Amino acid sequence: MLDQSQLPRHIAIIMDGNGRWARQQGKPRIMGHQAGVRSVQEVVKCARELEIKALTLYAFSTENWRRPGSEVENLMGLLQTYLESQLDKMLQNQVQLRTCGRIERLPPKVRRILEKTMAKTAANDGLILNLALSYGSRDELLRATRHLAREVAQGCLQPEEISEELFSAQLDSAGLPDPDLMIRTGGEARLSNFLLWQLSYSELYFTRVLWPDFGREDFLAAIADYQQRQRRFGRTGEQVNDREQA
Ligand code: FPP
Repeated sequence: MLDQSQLPRHIAIIMDGNGRWARQQGKPRIMGHQAGVRSVQEVVKCARELEIKALTLYAFSTENWRRPGSEVENLMGLLQTYLESQLDKMLQNQVQLRTCGRIERLPPKVRRILEKTMAKTAANDGLILNLALSYGSRDELLRATRHLAREVAQGCLQPEEISEELFSAQLDSAGLPDPDLMIRTGGEARLSNFLLWQLSYSELYFTRVLWPDFGREDFLAAIADYQQRQRRFGRTGEQVNDREQA
């Protein structure tokens, strides 16, 4: 049973294991990604029902461009079909689409549908569905650093004025709370260049379940696990208990 008062505001997910899932079934890798889209739909629906504020999904990394051209094309096609088929549902359910990463590197057709979906859902005030596309955390950090360095060089900003808040505001995730919980499926325990700044204080949850097998029950189990943890943010356990009782 989940504690409704202790739900994570923002959940980030590394959706891993599509390829292995397909191999286990003796199917081509793309079938794993196709099955992964069903998990995306189920998790988005569940997050919306729970009234989670934001869900960030790592859908395509800067490193994923190194995959065979046919797989990249297939993934772009799946993304396009997903967006086209979900627009009405997003509007009905107050889901707002956002992205992080270099979407200018995506094929023009995909970019157009992303931009259209973002514009049409911009006023929705339910779940923020943030898709990380052509995303790499180091790339994002460098872009933010270059931007601030330019402002300093132009004399519009003093180095001492660069605070955590100002820096966060330069990231693609500006305006979103940092993730409280990060889930990675597929059995690996690494961050793979995902939200390195934003995950500083997040609870990390790793599961062996492959992404296409990850459904509502697994999502709820990850949140239940999160609710068992004590988040101390550098304080002692006793300090946290005293604050909670106050
Ligand atoms: C990792 O599995 C998964 C990806 C690189 C792509 C994730 C994409 C989807 C779930 C579908 C499209 C997304 C949306 C939002 C509609 P892998 O291929 O690395 O798996 P493996 O490690 O088992 O090979």
